Amino acid sequence: IMKIGLVLALVFLWILHFYCPQAALKKTPLFDFHREQGGKMVEFAGWSMPVQYKDSHIVSHMHTREHCSIFDVSHMLQTKVHGKDRVKFMESLVVADVGELQDNQGTLSLFTNEKGGIMDDLIVTKTDQGYLYIVSNAGCADKDSAHMKARLAEFKAAGLDVDLEFLDEALIAVQGPSMSRVLQAGLKEDLGKLTFMTSTLATVFGVPGCRVTRCGYTGEDGVEISVPRSRVVELTEKMLANSEVKLAGLGARDSLRLEAGLCLYGNDIDETTTPVEATLVWTIGKRRRQTKDFPGAAIIVPQIKAKTARKRVGLVSTGPPVRQHTPILSSDGKVIGEVTSGCPSPCLKKNVAMGYVDAAFAKNGTALQVEVRKKAVPAVVSKMPFVPTNYYSG
Ligand SMILES: *[C@@H]1O[C@H](CO)[C@@H](O)[C@H](O)[C@H]1NC(C)=O
Repeated sequence: IMKIGLVLALVFLWILHFYCPQAALKKTPLFDFHREQGGKMVEFAGWSMPVQYKDSHIVSHMHTREHCSIFDVSHMLQTKVHGKDRVKFMESLVVADVGELQDNQGTLSLFTNEKGGIMDDLIVTKTDQGYLYIVSNAGCADKDSAHMKARLAEFKAAGLDVDLEFLDEALIAVQGPSMSRVLQAGLKEDLGKLTFMTSTLATVFGVPGCRVTRCGYTGEDGVEISVPRSRVVELTEKMLANSEVKLAGLGARDSLRLEAGLCLYGNDIDETTTPVEATLVWTIGKRRRQTKDFPGAAIIVPQIKAKTARKRVGLVSTGPPVRQHTPILSSDGKVIGEVTSGCPSPCLKKNVAMGYVDAAFAKNGTALQVEVRKKAVPAVVSKMPFVPTNYYSG
C-alpha cells in the first residue's frame, strides 16, 4: 500500500508540474544568481525573470542612463543560419537587405507575414564566420523557430544550401555610458572600433567564445554578449566587481526602451500592424522595396507611398500614468486611437507613451487627450526617442 501511495504521489506531482504555471516556468542559467542577488522573479513569456533587484526600478533606470547595468536576456531566441544560400533564406523571411550588410554588421529587421503584419522583430548580423546570427523575442520563440524551420524545408526541397542552429548560449546586455570602460578592462580588442550594430567574437574577462555585439534596447551605448551558459555567472560577477555596474531587471528595461522610442513586440507591434503603420519603414531595405520579394510586400510597399489610415506616434502627458489600452482622443473628445505602452518617464518626469492614432492626428505637436480613469487629460504628439539616444558611432 505504501508503494502504491508513493506512486500516486509521484503521479500527482507529475500532473501538478503541468498544471502549476510557476513550476513550469523556464529558467535562464542566471536564475539562481538572480535570486541570490535579491531579484524579484516574475513570469515573462513563459520564463521566470527578474523584474527588479534590491533597488527600485526607477533607481535602476537612472543607474543605466548614468552608469552601467547588466540585464539577463538569455530568454531571447538565438539562431545561427548556415549554408551558402543563407542570405537568400533570410531575405525570404525578413524586410532587410541582408545582402548589403558589411561583414560583422547587423540591423534591426522584421519577420512579416503574407498579410503585411509583423510576426516579430529581430536583429540579424552577417558575421564573417560563415553564418548569420539572429536574435529574436522570447515571446515569439516557438513561432519564429517553426516559421524558420518551415522555410528551411522549402529551401532544402529546392536543393538550396541552408541550415539552422538554435543556440543554447546565455545572453546578457551591458548598457550605459560606462559600458565601454567597464568592458574594455576585460577585452584585448579595441572597443573603439566596435561601432553601433557591429559584432565580434572575443574572449571577455577570460571567458572564451563570446559574441559581443554593440547594440541593446535602452537607447544607451551598450553591448549584448552571447556567452556559453556554463560561464555566464562568472562573467557577470567579474563585471559586477566594478562599482559602476549593477544588475537591472525587466521593469527598468521597459521604461528605458520606451524613453528610447523602441517597440515592444506584442504591445506596440504585432501581426495586426504593418511596418508602415508602425513607422518602421526605415527597416525595409531600399532594394527590397524595388524587388518586393519579402512576405507581405504586395501590401506593405504600396503603403509607403499611399500612407496608412493609422500610425504609431509618441505621446507626452502630465498627470495620472498612461498605460496600455488607454483611449486616445482628439481635442474635441472623439476616440482616435489607443495607447500600446506607457509609463511615467524617470528622466523626463512626465508620462511617455506610444500608440496608434488616425493618421490625420499623427503630426508632431498635435494637441490630443488621453482618457485616464474616465477623465480626459491633455497629451501632445511627440517625436521619438523621447530621451536622446547615445549610440556609439565611432
Ligand atoms: C515637435 O513639436 C514640439 C512642440 O510641441 C517642438 O517643440 C519640437 O521642436 C518639434 N520637434 C520636431 C523635431 O519637429
